[in-house]
Amino acid sequence: MSTMAVSIDGKSVTTRLAMRMEDSLQAFAVRAACFIGELDVPYSEEFDGHDFGATHIIAYIGDEPVGTLRVRWFQSFAMPERLAVIQRYRGHGIGQLLIERCRKLAESRGSTMLYAQALPGDVKYWEKQGWRRLVPEETSSGTKRIVAMVRAVDPSKPLPELDAPQAIVLRREAQLDASGLPLGTASN
Ligand SMILES: CC(C)(COP(=O)(O)OP(=O)(O)OC[C@H]1O[C@@H](n2cnc3c(N)ncnc32)[C@H](O)[C@@H]1OP(=O)(O)O)[C@@H](O)C(=O)NCCC(=O)NCCS
Repeated sequence: MSTMAVSIDGKSVTTRLAMRMEDSLQAFAVRAACFIGELDVPYSEEFDGHDFGATHIIAYIGDEPVGTLRVRWFQSFAMPERLAVIQRYRGHGIGQLLIERCRKLAESRGSTMLYAQALPGDVKYWEKQGWRRLVPEETSSGTKRIVAMVRAVDPSKPLPELDAPQAIVLRREAQLDASGLPLGTASN
């Protein structure tokens, strides 16, 4: 449970980490509704092969999954992504609750920095949650522009220094082939 309290019509919103396959399916259902159904994200892009190495946080009203966030773990940062709240439950702080649960989880696992890749239209949302741009100007190119956003896990501490942050965090991730290997590598 998070210490941040959110309730809708007198019902508390709770958060939980996915521990069983069934929990992960609830996270995937929320994402399918929001990203594939609502925002026209292709299935292959939404379910990109990184879900089974990630931690999924799910928000509930009662037993109903209403929001989710996936966290991937890197040596120098934790990366929240795929933040989604079912449309009719938005504007009550569930997104913020999920981000805060991610922050606490990252803190408990020893991460010092959170890093997210936002679409330009979502930068203000992250900034309202206390994030800032990693580099002042966008450095990504191509059809899908992204903005690197960062936040210290402990807000009372300064952000840790990163060597060549653009090179580290804005590099494109490998696309995987059907066997899970990065495209262009020798298959076995
Ligand atoms: C982004 C999202 C997760 C927010 O969920 P939520 O539970 O409504 O978030 P919160 O209640 O914590 O915050 C809502 C506030 O953020 C604002 N907000 C939402 N999306 C925003 C955006 N793209 N840019 C700026 N502000 C935004 C809302 O207007 C609202 O402002 P208010 O508090 O002044 O009324 C939800 O809108 C969503 O699922 N969108 C579709 C999926 C998506 O785009 N994910 C990318 C994540 S950034």
